[in-house]
Amino acid sequence: MPNKKEIKIRPFWYSDIWIFPKLINIITSLDKDGRINAAPYSFIMQWDVMHFKPQIMLGFRQDSHTFLNICETGEFVINCPSWDTLEDMMETARFWPAGVNELDHTNYTMIESRKVKPPSIGECPQIMECTVDEIQKLKRSNGIVIANIEAIVMDEGLAEMSRAERIKAMNLPIGLGDEKRLDYFYCDTSNVVMHTLKDNLDAYRGAGAKTNMEWDEGASEALMQIPPAVRALVIDNTEAAAKEKGHSIVTLKFFQELAAEYGMDDEVMERFRSGG
Ligand SMILES: Cc1cc2nc3c(=O)[nH]c(=O)nc-3n(C[C@H](O)[C@H](O)[C@H](O)COP(=O)(O)O)c2cc1C
Repeated sequence: MPNKKEIKIRPFWYSDIWIFPKLINIITSLDKDGRINAAPYSFIMQWDVMHFKPQIMLGFRQDSHTFLNICETGEFVINCPSWDTLEDMMETARFWPAGVNELDHTNYTMIESRKVKPPSIGECPQIMECTVDEIQKLKRSNGIVIANIEAIVMDEGLAEMSRAERIKAMNLPIGLGDEKRLDYFYCDTSNVVMHTLKDNLDAYRGAGAKTNMEWDEGASEALMQIPPAVRALVIDNTEAAAKEKGHSIVTLKFFQELAAEYGMDDEVMERFRSGG
């Protein structure tokens, strides 16, 4: 094991010192006059994961054109470029005055989005169309945007592939930070390995299953099929829905109907049962 040493924390530590492998996304947005803007962003993470309100969280420099546009118009598109278009992606990172469409300086093709006004980028295999739910302007740093996912759009054929095939076909670049604010580092996903999680269903069957109202036997058993990581969330959502409908007990029928409504169909449940 190597010896360790403490490192001085400097401004931009997150980029210059700490290695944060990150997904690269190009965000397209419109200003209040309808002018297109595009720029790469990595500070993006899933937030509310449930079917009815799938949300994503993003962080921006507060004076960036993208953040200002999102505050003004409430809509944007997250486009994931593939490795083959890295040069064009970097072109969108250059500073251009407000109102300049960075995509005009690239080989990217703008295509119409399905649910929002800003255009999507045709060459990007994976696209997410978003509308703003909440904006927080943090005092010392970023503007945080929590947004509703209005549509996920993918190249035809990708959704049907296995994950291994899809990772290969998309070939998304991973960002590895920069040096001197000019030299950006990337790697591709050619070295992908799959690890199977060793789990023992019996060991965690009862974990995290603290219900606050009565569940009948069938519903309790079905609940045990939900992995511990999301079980508390499922209990909360189910009990809130049951109370809203005036039920005092969660029955298997109610649980199954709700699961179907949430898109937790047999295929998803099977994935949970097999620990995936
Ligand atoms: C790969 C990559 C990822 C980036 N991620 C972020 C980010 O998450 N947040 C941010 O504020 N800026 C990020 N930037 C910097 C912005 O893209 C850059 O400041 C850009 O000029 C902003 O453009 P805009 O003012 O048109 O929005 C990133 C740049 C690159 C190249």
